[in-house]
Amino acid sequence: MCGIFAYLNYLTPKSRQEVLDLLVTGLKRLEYRGYDSTGVAIDSPDNENIVMVKRTGKVKVLEEAIQEHFSGGEYSKPVLTHVGIAHTRWATHGVPCERNSHPHRSDDGNGFVVVHNGIITNYNDVKTFLAKRGYEFESDTDTEVFAKLVHHLWKTHPTYSFRELVEQAILQVEGAFAIAVKSKYFPGECVASRRSSPLLVGIKTKTRLATDHIPILYGKDEKKLSPDQDIRPHGQSRELPVLPRSESTSEFMPLEEKEVEYFFASDASAVIEHTNRVIYLEDDDVAAVRDGTLSIHRLKKSLDDPHAREITTLKMEIQQIMKGNYDYFMQKEIFEQPDSVVNTMRGRVRFDGNAIVLGGIKDYIPEIKRCRRLMLIGCGTSYHSAVATRQLLEELTELPVMVELASDFLDRNTPIFRDDVCFFISQSGETADTLMALRYCKQRGALIVGITNTVGSSICRESHCGVHINAGPEIGVASTKAYTSQFISLVMFALVMSEDRLSLQQRRLEILQALSNLADQIRAVLQLDSKVQELAKDLYQHKSLLIMGRGYNFATCLEGALKVKELTYMHSEGIMAGELKHGPLALVDDSMPVLMIVLRDPVYVKCMNALQQVTSRKGCPIIICEEGDEETKAFSSRHLEIPRTVDCLQGILTVIPMQLLSYHIAVLRGCDVDCPRNLAKSVTVE
Ligand code: G6P
Repeated sequence: MCGIFAYLNYLTPKSRQEVLDLLVTGLKRLEYRGYDSTGVAIDSPDNENIVMVKRTGKVKVLEEAIQEHFSGGEYSKPVLTHVGIAHTRWATHGVPCERNSHPHRSDDGNGFVVVHNGIITNYNDVKTFLAKRGYEFESDTDTEVFAKLVHHLWKTHPTYSFRELVEQAILQVEGAFAIAVKSKYFPGECVASRRSSPLLVGIKTKTRLATDHIPILYGKDEKKLSPDQDIRPHGQSRELPVLPRSESTSEFMPLEEKEVEYFFASDASAVIEHTNRVIYLEDDDVAAVRDGTLSIHRLKKSLDDPHAREITTLKMEIQQIMKGNYDYFMQKEIFEQPDSVVNTMRGRVRFDGNAIVLGGIKDYIPEIKRCRRLMLIGCGTSYHSAVATRQLLEELTELPVMVELASDFLDRNTPIFRDDVCFFISQSGETADTLMALRYCKQRGALIVGITNTVGSSICRESHCGVHINAGPEIGVASTKAYTSQFISLVMFALVMSEDRLSLQQRRLEILQALSNLADQIRAVLQLDSKVQELAKDLYQHKSLLIMGRGYNFATCLEGALKVKELTYMHSEGIMAGELKHGPLALVDDSMPVLMIVLRDPVYVKCMNALQQVTSRKGCPIIICEEGDEETKAFSSRHLEIPRTVDCLQGILTVIPMQLLSYHIAVLRGCDVDCPRNLAKSVTVE
């Protein structure tokens, strides 16, 4: 969803043109999150004003507008210190258009400009409050109230620092947000904060920093506003109460460097080409840069707060987020799977000693073994990885396993007990529904296990323990390699849980053996690419595609159909083959495209039965079957043969042709493969 990128150079000469280039590149790195409009704000050449450019559509359109308006002359002169902020917007309040694009401003004079991710839920109250004080609103967004609120505070409290003004504004807003603010009244300063929406600060210095920790500072007065003083409840028109000015900050000079550059970004992929030193901000942190010095403040102190925020060294490489020789990130990510599955197992699976260690949860295994049930919770593709591994988890843990869509789980107020173990599966680690479900279960005392791909994400930080799937950055909005790595992570967990069960040793060995062959088998499946492309040519003009299977491959049907919908905008449905007679069979005729997964596993006979039902209704399915399975192949002229593996890992090999198929159909239909319409990579709103 929305992306924030802000850049501050202190005593590091950069022309405005260079700053704009940096901002645009930062936005390009965030494109994958999904967005529909963009914008930037920088200082005007005379430093008297802030100029903004906003555009509906892609970053490319913004880039062209910038080239048109800001090239040469004053824009090419270097400036020692400067702040620029930029944004990709995914419309929530108001249609995608320039007026609603960020940055939003406080007034005609652009005194304060703000970029924001998330939703300010009480924006109507704040708007009413400000409207009564003469503020006129020019957009339909919730964000605009924040810029105007800071301006109002500035007018009424002229002695407050920039950071204090933003802090006071934050105290008045509710909801989820990450923000970065720039002001013409505070040149060279930037203030940023987050609540339930990710934000990090990248730091680039010529020499290594003297410290790896930024101390956290607290205002002297931590008094909370009481509701009757507050504007929040009913938005009545009273003066906005403001906390006394904090004087504590002057006691510290936490991080002071002569020449320094700071990057504020929604995620690490936007900063990695500049620096690998980052601080992940926590909820209600306020990060402020003034005179080149970064400080982190918190308004409320809680007992478990650490004294400092750690500067983390990112392990990500820039090449990991570049497309290389591929046309699309999604294509690259599909083809990375032989490596990404190995990376998920690296250092964890010892094939020689048949041992598996999951360092992030090993201390919790005895507790997990004593639990009442396992709950696997996620959204979209992550949910499908739970569906895919449920049967194996039931078999190897001998525990009841529930799989849940996070949104539905929350809607039902599902009963959760202290002896439940709840897994939260999320590529981004930021999906709002999954995160809310996590907090719901945590409050009820369950053990929280995070399965994520994004180190430092909210789900990582709020889990008691977990597994990083280590698939590497996934940029394409449609998840591919994260799915197979989530799958493997859950399989590894099942293997760990059954380590001391004698009766299951043979089964474990069989699975471990299959895991060791998996990378090569994925390579073999990827060789089917041109064959899949041919099939895509047959299918891309159709309106619908039914994908049928059962047992270990039902998840592939769901995931395959999701990929087709996401990428190609065609209708597609994953159908449990056992349910065929209960409705879906009515859809089958000689013109309805059907794909069936029929592998030699315990449900083979049942799948063949379904296949016959389809062919006897003149259906002509594409069959995914095992290499050399002549009997099954005989049912159709169109088939994809995949290598034989153990039943519980088949889903990894069968999902790859589905990923390739949806990719090729999307290309043939002229769809935007990496950023499908209306979708976002990281869905940070409910
Ligand atoms: C969005 C993405 C999907 C993803 C889902 C869950 O809908 O478009 O690809 O599966 O969110 O995301 P998560 O980051 O929690 O795995």
